[in-house]
Amino acid sequence: MQAGLSSLTQPMDVRTAFKKGIAQLREADVPSFTLAAELLLLHVLGRNRTWLYAHPEEIVSDAELQRFFELIARRAAGEPTQHLTGKQEFWGLEFEVTPDVLIPRPETEHVIEVALDRLALRELRAGRPQKSAGEGLQIADIGTGSGCIAIALAKELPAANFYATDISPAALAVAQRNAQRHGVSDRINFREANLFAPVGAQQAAPQLGTLPNSAPPSALHQSRITSHQSPLFDLIASNPPYIGRRESPTLPREVRDHEPHSALFGGEEGYELYSDLITESAQHLKPAGILVLELGHSSLPAVQPLLETPHWTNVGVTNDLAGISRVLAAERL
Ligand SMILES: C[S@@+](CC[C@H](N)C(=O)[O-])C[C@H]1O[C@@H](n2cnc3c(N)ncnc32)[C@H](O)[C@@H]1O
Repeated sequence: MQAGLSSLTQPMDVRTAFKKGIAQLREADVPSFTLAAELLLLHVLGRNRTWLYAHPEEIVSDAELQRFFELIARRAAGEPTQHLTGKQEFWGLEFEVTPDVLIPRPETEHVIEVALDRLALRELRAGRPQKSAGEGLQIADIGTGSGCIAIALAKELPAANFYATDISPAALAVAQRNAQRHGVSDRINFREANLFAPVGAQQAAPQLGTLPNSAPPSALHQSRITSHQSPLFDLIASNPPYIGRRESPTLPREVRDHEPHSALFGGEEGYELYSDLITESAQHLKPAGILVLELGHSSLPAVQPLLETPHWTNVGVTNDLAGISRVLAAERL
């Protein structure tokens, strides 16, 4: 930080600022320090990569330099780059990210892939075209966080309707803004809920779809997801918190100190939430409905047996690019 700020007295070009930013992040042992410096510089300059590499001699204004080295210092102190830029790409879409939500991870894109593959297979088995717009489909995203799963699926399935729950009202507010940003807020009902159960609901369950789509998060707890009688969803997707509290000391500081613990930790071991999630999903899926769950790096042995009940068939595991069992999917009998 000292090197950056001390040089503010003299003009600095893009290349020099970039190099100093990289050096400070490398010195602070920041992972992917070059990428982090690049993203912060692009953010401050309001430019894209092409511009950055085409204009190394351009002089950076004092105000931009000041801002850039402030962000470099915060990144060096452990704040995630995404909290400093306020955004993260997921499924080719830009999502607003704040400290209230988990930063969407690339491995969660496998949840989207598996969900779309399973839906296409179901269409094929029913003798319909594999690529559908999702007409008539009701889809749930449990623990929606930034909304990335529901919103990515809503972009892929422009005729489907969605329910997205989270236990955190602050996360739901971010998810709603992301849905508006991507033009899908009229098809996603965001609800404050403990898995499927509304938080603080005081009234009888209305029927599906009675909550106005534009309801603010503060109104979400007033409504139940479903009627008591019938299973409702064609697809339930979830990336629940799955890290064990006992693993906390091994987490990178960016994660442990800056991402919401309610999004990270599933219990002492990590896999504790899956049992209720799978039991409740069985109650909320239509026959032949699909369940798609993201798994922690060591969750599979604890979670897969939960699907070995008469409710489930076609259980499948998908590995991520690192070869870790990342997505567990099954079909409701
Ligand atoms: C691992 S994050 C996933 C966020 C987002 N779906 C994603 O994939 O990036 C888990 C989310 O579940 C929420 N959550 C934790 N416990 C919950 C519960 N019992 N019911 C509903 N949501 C819960 C957290 O607030 C957090 O937003």
